[in-house]
Amino acid sequence: MNFEEVVMKRYATKSFDGKMIDETKVNKLLELIRYSASSFNLQPWKVKIVKDRQTKEKLSPLSWNQPQITTCSHLLIFCAETEVKELIDKLEKQMLAAGAEKEKIANYIKMMRDFEAGMTPEQRLIWAQKQAYIALGNAINGAKALGFDSCPMEGFDPKGYARELGLPAHIVPTVVCPIGFANDKPMAKMRFDAKDIIA
Ligand SMILES: Cc1cc2nc3c(=O)[nH]c(=O)nc-3n(C[C@H](O)[C@H](O)[C@H](O)COP(=O)(O)O)c2cc1C
Repeated sequence: MNFEEVVMKRYATKSFDGKMIDETKVNKLLELIRYSASSFNLQPWKVKIVKDRQTKEKLSPLSWNQPQITTCSHLLIFCAETEVKELIDKLEKQMLAAGAEKEKIANYIKMMRDFEAGMTPEQRLIWAQKQAYIALGNAINGAKALGFDSCPMEGFDPKGYARELGLPAHIVPTVVCPIGFANDKPMAKMRFDAKDIIA
């Protein structure tokens, strides 16, 4: 499938058939997610993966009982990583290890540090969440390209998820994406006219 076909054939799947996706393919999807674009390349997200039935059943009432949660193969929970200072340190180390010269990247690192310091905790969370949504975009199109289906979902209780999954406070569930093999049929695509999306 070329990219255009992927975009046109992907749809928000409402129910999966319960079959598990091969782990090799799941790992390929995680690679597509890992290579998502992000502001400053700081990659401020973490993906929590749930595949056991018991946890999915516990998460179901925290997801408006939407059937995707219990019928999917893997449930990907895209979380915002709000410890951005640590990410800057990590990226700097990685750049140096890749051969960058400290003085040459100093301005770039300072720009990131100033940017981070200028945000309130709330702004930092929103910024990280925006990046998580870019990764979500790769996930939903990537799933279709790899031969399975997905559903982006905001219909869940982020605080309840964090509690149930034992996530630390700096990792904030933002949007979820069950993946698996569809057990439903896509509805006809409905979109606004091309002219309506031009501001
Ligand atoms: C951020 C986001 C949150 C969504 N949340 C849900 C959800 O909780 N449950 C659901 O069934 N669909 C959800 N959807 C799917 C949308 O309803 C769907 O993408 C839209 O109707 C267009 O249909 P299509 O994706 O099949 O083309 C969500 C989509 C996005 C992008």
